[in-house]
Amino acid sequence: MCGIVGYIGPKSVVPVLLDGLKKLEYRGYDSAGIAVIEKNKIIVQKSVGKIARLEEKTEAYTPEGNIGVGHTRWATHGRPSDVNSHPHTDCSGKFAVVHNGIIENYLELKEWLESEGHEFLSETDTEILPHLVEHFYRGNLEEAVREVIKKLDGSYAMVVLAKKEPDRLVAARKDSPLVVGLGRGEYFLASDIPATLSHTRDNYILNDGEIAILTRNGVRVTDSEGNEIKKEVFHVKWDAVAAEKGGYPHFMLKEIYEQPKAIRETLTGRISADSSQVILNEMIMTPEEIRSLRNIFIVACGTAYHAGMVGKYLIEDLARIPVEVDIASEFRYRKPIINKGDLVIVISQSGETADTLAALREAQKAGAKVLAVTNVVGSSVSREADEVIYTWAGPEIAVASTKAYSTQLVVMMLLAIYFAQVRATIDSEHAGQLLKEMKELPEKAQAILEDLEDLESFLKKYAEAQNTFFLGRGLDYAVAMEGCLKLKEISYMHAEAYAAGELKHGTLALIVDGVPVVALATQMDLYDKMVSNIKEVKARDAQVIGVTFRGNNELKKVVDHVVYIPQTDRSLAPVLTVIPLQLLAYHIAVARGCDVDKPRNLAKSVTVE
Ligand code: G6P
Repeated sequence: MCGIVGYIGPKSVVPVLLDGLKKLEYRGYDSAGIAVIEKNKIIVQKSVGKIARLEEKTEAYTPEGNIGVGHTRWATHGRPSDVNSHPHTDCSGKFAVVHNGIIENYLELKEWLESEGHEFLSETDTEILPHLVEHFYRGNLEEAVREVIKKLDGSYAMVVLAKKEPDRLVAARKDSPLVVGLGRGEYFLASDIPATLSHTRDNYILNDGEIAILTRNGVRVTDSEGNEIKKEVFHVKWDAVAAEKGGYPHFMLKEIYEQPKAIRETLTGRISADSSQVILNEMIMTPEEIRSLRNIFIVACGTAYHAGMVGKYLIEDLARIPVEVDIASEFRYRKPIINKGDLVIVISQSGETADTLAALREAQKAGAKVLAVTNVVGSSVSREADEVIYTWAGPEIAVASTKAYSTQLVVMMLLAIYFAQVRATIDSEHAGQLLKEMKELPEKAQAILEDLEDLESFLKKYAEAQNTFFLGRGLDYAVAMEGCLKLKEISYMHAEAYAAGELKHGTLALIVDGVPVVALATQMDLYDKMVSNIKEVKARDAQVIGVTFRGNNELKKVVDHVVYIPQTDRSLAPVLTVIPLQLLAYHIAVARGCDVDKPRNLAKSVTVE
């Protein structure tokens, strides 16, 4: 986990690197650094802390040069500190390297390099890389890098700078993302496209095993043997401002407000004009294969896992196929019983989560077909899966996932209805009704956002609480889990989500006077039972915030506050129910003075195990 950037061109390099790093801060932000070739010397500046700290250093002294690399770190090997920050250099300061990933055999390589006389300063795995380059360098950086990667086990996206070759950057990748930005007479490297978007829309997306050589005259990509590879240009259509905050105080709030648009785009072209059919052109499974599906596994991490839980309820309910939902880090090691012909759905916003990717590979090894639901075109998950359905949420920058989640729910709903139609487990009237209502979700989401503008002051009073509980039944329970995660990750408030019927088996002991409880009551078939559970917590003097459909005038009689969402079919409710929960977490985090977009100890995309 880390973000890397590189630049070669006519511009003064420091502002280009800093700007790129700021766009990648979501990948980690416990330290940052740059290396620049200035007058035949590599100048390294680095600092523990966020990029602003590095910026102070570059303001005190700005290295002059037009080739350099930069890094924003999320610590794995070695705690966050100045010395562990990247870039790392060799013994003589002739080479500088930035790296994202983990070199698994670094201890063995370090011992060997030490026996050859190399001296190490940091606790990182990365530091072996510049020393290896130093070891193999015979006057040609490209050849040295090729030798280095032969020695490595593990994952890497790396960029290498050599003092003696001030007109060349060499980059390589395996299992960590890296893109090459193609400007006019200037070329960029970055872990992700937003970092280069203000300079160019044309990119090469590097694949595992590829090496990119950037000079002032162009970019060459080779395989690990040095054979040239013809890359296709990937043209990015996003607007550069789409990756900026767009006037909101935080990316998270901006992304919450982008949900109507994200939901609309994810639905575009996927429901027939007469609302009778789901259209999934991406689906390569044949109707016969879908009809004979015996098991589905949904595998994901974090928020995407919660979207998977909703997927399970919906697919089982509508398409009558047994679904298991697994956390990817469990799935990959628990030896799941997968049979040939089973379907494994992996959900990942970034498409780069290491555990999800590993689970995908396990599933393929076991003979399952893998369908990926991801937000990032060209991501590792999208490239390795057998088929891909994209969530068109646009770049999500805030660590806490919001619009990616709601669009993942939309895809789960489309899939459940699609499977149900193919398997004839849903009648056309019910399918038509659901699809018609799905088309209304963007406006309904918009209505919630407009209605809830006064929520801020009301929610702030909960900011002092120590513990919060989220309750729900059925689909509401799955959404309660996501609301609970949102609150924990950005406000650092302890929160637990419970299937409301389970409360009495232990957790009820924690409900005391004034404890906030968020009770979701949108699943009308379970409504009476939910109300009984609400009464159980009210009897212990909890402060209950209820969430239900507009028009329900009963709930307010049993809770302290009600947040209303527009009426929709109960199967579609999660897309709307989650919005007040996201805002609840957001406003509480702001009131508690937390860094909403960059919560402590977390990162947007977890590319390590
Ligand atoms: C991290 C992020 C979460 C995200 C999870 C899975 O923990 O902070 O917001 O849900 O990774 O990420 P993915 O990109 O695979 O959806």
